Amino acid sequence: MGTFKVAPEIELFESADRFIEQLCPGPRDVVLTNAVIYQQHLRAYNLKSAVFFQENYGAGEPSDTMVNAILADMKDLPFDRIFAVGGGTVLDVAKILSLSGFKNVLEVLHGQVPPVKLHRLVAVPTTCGTGSEVTNIAILEETESHIKKGIAGTALFPDQAALVPDFLRDLPYRFFAFSSIDALIHALESYLAPRSNPITELFATEAVRRIVTAYLDIAGQGQTAQARQSPSVLLASTLAGIAFANTGVGAVHAMSYPLGGKYHVAHGEANYAFLGAVMERYLERNPEGKIKQLNEFVANVLRTGRAPGTMTLADLLAAIAPLKRLRDYGVKEEELPEFAEAAMAQERLLKNNYVALSYSELLQMYQSRY
Ligand SMILES: NC(=O)c1ccc[n+]([C@@H]2O[C@H](COP(=O)([O-])OP(=O)(O)OC[C@H]3O[C@@H](n4cnc5c(N)ncnc54)[C@H](O)[C@@H]3O)[C@@H](O)[C@H]2O)c1
Ligand SMILES: [Fe+2]
Repeated sequence: MGTFKVAPEIELFESADRFIEQLCPGPRDVVLTNAVIYQQHLRAYNLKSAVFFQENYGAGEPSDTMVNAILADMKDLPFDRIFAVGGGTVLDVAKILSLSGFKNVLEVLHGQVPPVKLHRLVAVPTTCGTGSEVTNIAILEETESHIKKGIAGTALFPDQAALVPDFLRDLPYRFFAFSSIDALIHALESYLAPRSNPITELFATEAVRRIVTAYLDIAGQGQTAQARQSPSVLLASTLAGIAFANTGVGAVHAMSYPLGGKYHVAHGEANYAFLGAVMERYLERNPEGKIKQLNEFVANVLRTGRAPGTMTLADLLAAIAPLKRLRDYGVKEEELPEFAEAAMAQERLLKNNYVALSYSELLQMYQSRY
């Protein structure tokens, strides 16, 4: 990959009506979404497309069994495009459904079948976190091992990313908070990654600026500010997605996977559990590198947003969502070495770290968060 790439066409829609008028989902299209999103935002349009609800095939975030079950129901339908209207779960599942040449998704997950695109994919995020609409990766839990793994490749890029702020109107606060923390972490990890460069930094810093500004509004004015801020945070999540699609994300994500896989903690929440520990460790290990610029940038956004003088990013995040300890999720202390081993195995992610981290450092960070 070169220095920078954005593959999907990105369209910003001023309303849901304009989105439907312009992209016209029809009888040769299928829609993958959640029932709550369909009822609130799509039902009234009487679409002629076949509609699939992801949750009918399994609860929570994507797994091989969920994808295989949808695939079985879709296989006899003739269609050209898939509209994925939902959070990262719906988008990631749809990315895999847009591929061809496999009967069981594990064949692709295990690298036995290369990912090849069959259907056009229109990705419409309804959370403000993952950036999956602009990335070339889908994350799946392997049901048997409870391990989260990625399928990556050019074929995984959606063809179009449509940003429709109307669709976030009724997003529950909890999902707003944790998905946007995920987007913030994408931007921070991307900025610090070895492949970060002046172009990805533009996307990462603008994402951080928008999200921190939105959080200051919410911390000051309460959760009613979510509605006013969510269009800006939606755009920020796409910008952060563009940044990390080019640089990768690192240790925060690697450490979150065992917690997400084994205890089914939502992706953004699981990342939040480790953000502070990883950033503190980075600062200790190399305080004069890019982390210094990043901390100055965040401090400046806090000042511009008139945050109280002593407020840190950690304080602001605590006002957005409570930070829990691993024991609060039911994790047992004796599992921590196993967690550290699983995180160490995420080589795809750990190579994107600001500084290399050893097994014992990962274990210490898990222990500090216990
Ligand atoms: N492919 C990538 O680049 C990438 C990057 C980061 C994360 N991910 C993956 O994304 C998944 C997490 O996605 P997420 O954080 O968006 O959460 P999610 O897709 O799991 O959605 C969380 C909940 O919000 C509900 N919801 C979504 N939009 C709604 C709306 N507008 N109104 C009401 N309810 C709504 C969903 O039904 C679900 O119950 C994880 O599986 C993670 O691994 C992928
Ligand atoms: Fe993420």
